[in-house]
Amino acid sequence: MELPDWVPATMDVSKPSPARMYDYYLGGTHNFEVDRDAAERAIAAMPYTIQGARGNRDFLRRAVRLLVDSGIRQLLDLGSGIPTVGNVHEVAQRRDPTARVVYVDIDPVAVAHSSAILRHNHLATVVQADMRDVDAVLSHPQVRGLIDFSEPVGLIMASVLHFVPDSSRPAEIVAAYRDAVPAGSHLALSHIGAKEEPDNRTGMLADFKAVYQNTTNPVVLRTRPQIESFFAGFDLLEPGVVLVHQWRPDADQEVPAKLPPGYGGVGMKG
Ligand SMILES: C[S@@+](CC[C@H](N)C(=O)[O-])C[C@H]1O[C@@H](n2cnc3c(N)ncnc32)[C@H](O)[C@@H]1O
Repeated sequence: MELPDWVPATMDVSKPSPARMYDYYLGGTHNFEVDRDAAERAIAAMPYTIQGARGNRDFLRRAVRLLVDSGIRQLLDLGSGIPTVGNVHEVAQRRDPTARVVYVDIDPVAVAHSSAILRHNHLATVVQADMRDVDAVLSHPQVRGLIDFSEPVGLIMASVLHFVPDSSRPAEIVAAYRDAVPAGSHLALSHIGAKEEPDNRTGMLADFKAVYQNTTNPVVLRTRPQIESFFAGFDLLEPGVVLVHQWRPDADQEVPAKLPPGYGGVGMKG
């Protein structure tokens, strides 16, 4: 297979990557047949997968606006994904051109493409790292170069913790980031939900999860209370952890009749 020039030489393109599948859901072009096939199977399993991805992305943009409007001037976006329209740095820097953003992702395509679009932006950068390795992320020179940990930080974990299995102790990972930032810092987090819904979403979600089993990052489904528990040590802002489409929707926002099971919330460290 001939690969486009944005593909890093070391990349494994034999397995679908959740980052590239998500890019496909959002209408992006940084994906391969193997990703599109898996993404189509995920969409067949859960028909509102695309609405879920778009709803998550819209939640992220609204959350970033809130963070910047609350006085946060530095954002650490963990599991930032392949850049698409309305990236975190664009939303933040449109609100305040001095806002600083560090993207962190484990996926080489996400990092290569982010790096290309950030070439001329000296207030935003990208680091290739596993967000579970908190010490490596927090001590990384590019992170230290843009984030001042004596000032409030906006931590973003949008649609990433469902790729972190319980065996990696996700609650401890979130707590380690929380402990590294001062009072006034915020956490914006979203996550695919499970089991609480009254209809057959458990079945659909089980099929959706099965598609991800064969990707580079299997998915872990968690219930809304489990997702809420990641905010330990943060005061949840209104309306708490809710379906992403219902989190402070914009007046002109389209809300699908059937809401995908993705939850999100924003909390502040007191
Ligand atoms: C569904 S995308 C979400 C992208 C973006 N945060 C958003 O909400 O639009 C999940 C991203 O998390 C990344 N990811 C998964 N596990 C990770 C880990 N352990 N460390 C860093 N990034 C990770 C994937 O590569 C992918 O780009």
